Amino acid sequence: MEYTLVSKMFTNPNGIEVLLPAPVEPKSELLFNAGVYDGAVPFKETNAGWHGYIPWTDHPQWKQLAKEILDGAQQQAIESPFKPGQAAYDDQTTKLRVTGGIVGTRFSEYFMRLGAVLYNWPAESWETIKKDKDRSMLHVLSFPYNGEATKDDIVKHVITPNPLHFVRNHGNIPIIDANTWLLELGGLVNQPKSIKFDQLKSGFPTKTVTATLVCSGTRRKEQQMEALGEFDELINAPWTEQALGTARWTGVTLKTLVDYCGGLRDEATDIEFYGADTYFKRNKPDNYIVSIPIRKMEDTIIAFEMNGELLTPTHGAPVRAVVPGYIGARSVKWLYRIKALPHPSLAPVQSEEYLYFTHQMGKHNFRWSDGFQIGGMPISSAIMSPKNGEVVYHNGKVKVTGWAYTGGTSNWVERVEVSPNGGSDWYPVSTAQLSQKFWWAWRLFAVEVPTPAQGYLDFTVRAWDGNMNTQPTLVRDGWNWDTHVTNSCHHIQIYSVNLSDPQTALRLAQLHKHGLAFEPVHKPLEMELEDEVEYLNRIREGSIRRDPVE
Ligand code: MTE
Repeated sequence: MEYTLVSKMFTNPNGIEVLLPAPVEPKSELLFNAGVYDGAVPFKETNAGWHGYIPWTDHPQWKQLAKEILDGAQQQAIESPFKPGQAAYDDQTTKLRVTGGIVGTRFSEYFMRLGAVLYNWPAESWETIKKDKDRSMLHVLSFPYNGEATKDDIVKHVITPNPLHFVRNHGNIPIIDANTWLLELGGLVNQPKSIKFDQLKSGFPTKTVTATLVCSGTRRKEQQMEALGEFDELINAPWTEQALGTARWTGVTLKTLVDYCGGLRDEATDIEFYGADTYFKRNKPDNYIVSIPIRKMEDTIIAFEMNGELLTPTHGAPVRAVVPGYIGARSVKWLYRIKALPHPSLAPVQSEEYLYFTHQMGKHNFRWSDGFQIGGMPISSAIMSPKNGEVVYHNGKVKVTGWAYTGGTSNWVERVEVSPNGGSDWYPVSTAQLSQKFWWAWRLFAVEVPTPAQGYLDFTVRAWDGNMNTQPTLVRDGWNWDTHVTNSCHHIQIYSVNLSDPQTALRLAQLHKHGLAFEPVHKPLEMELEDEVEYLNRIREGSIRRDPVE
């Protein structure tokens, strides 16, 4: 796939379209050689054919050493007169964050400072992205790679083509040879087992499920805009509305595999998934680990195919979990271990990261225990066209396209409504204008909305699920520290030009005759607007007199 490093237009957290920086080759000028650890380290890749995998989980002393190196490296950066790593971070990331995208210097730094085999992983991961993904992807974070399709591409396909499916990584992209891959099934199962790739593919009944994966950060930008102008300090990637995609996932259900292990022991309540990538939290490396409650076993697919093709490395090859209805974070990529537990996973992704706090919790008072772990995705929807800020010419009806999705269990999108006036009037999208209903997937829509009004209009959308839940009205209703699951009604502002209004049609014809462009809308008109003599006469005669006579 042809690929070059290009800059993109992107809407920044201020709502302004800006140039998103091209991803930076991690090996280039951001290097801080003085900060790379060059001593001997015990941690290494241990499994033949598993490139990009270090079993941190099995070696707590490796984790601790890596943390000490990184803690020390930070110390050095602050004390050094040259501040090599720090300088790169301040100069690059702060500036680039303000423009909407994040280069990922800080995250690359963890890997590169540790040196050894991890040093090249940021650069190698970018090479994998170039092979697997379409060059039209919008890069929200270049390392760990986070990217979403454009608004136009998202609504073109009910089943998202693999190269356009969004990508959310927390670390490097491992390249694992399917022939050497092995899945461990253990913990509170009656008979722990391990399974090879061919056995998984051919030794069990397979199932294909159409499911939308949605990152809990989708539409985060709207919550970030609630921030007090502190955009350069925001945590988490500034996703717009496209951190989601739909695929037909093929694999074996988790229930089938647990049955193969003789079922669960009575104490088991949750099932943990281990991903082979390296993820850092407060300078400590670990593998990517989360869990799901056992009631989701039947829905969950241990998948090896995405839309009829073997998984690509970017999407978790050779095998990943797909947990329909739950936030994407639970669908672990590069899966190598499944473990039944008597409680949810204690690993940081589950226990510290994907937490939902109330509106009143923030830096001033929150503790982890004040949040709850996010599971099912709530109902949400978004307008993909027209675009925010677009001048729309129409004949009294504006065509609106978008997506609607709901997660949870036993649920689907039942209805979508669009309002051309900020939510005063809602027009339903007919069944014919909605894509097919699936248990676990989005519905795309395309509808013509009556729009007699002109000038700036606030268009908004809301969806209803099969249980008649709908979306909150305001972003602020659901604002939460960590900015997860933005699902309030999505709004865009357009400038409406209704050509079925005779006066508007006349004005555009006049502009055309004078060879004048209508846009930009706010550029003053350099022509007479009506017959000046006649107009002044009317003022003189009093027919359009302003003040009352008496
Ligand atoms: N699995 C591993 N091992 N590492 C990750 O960083 N990210 C999770 C999930 N599985 C992640 C992972 C998140 S937050 C999401 S939204 C989905 O993968 C995204 O899947 P995709 O990149 O295939 O679209």
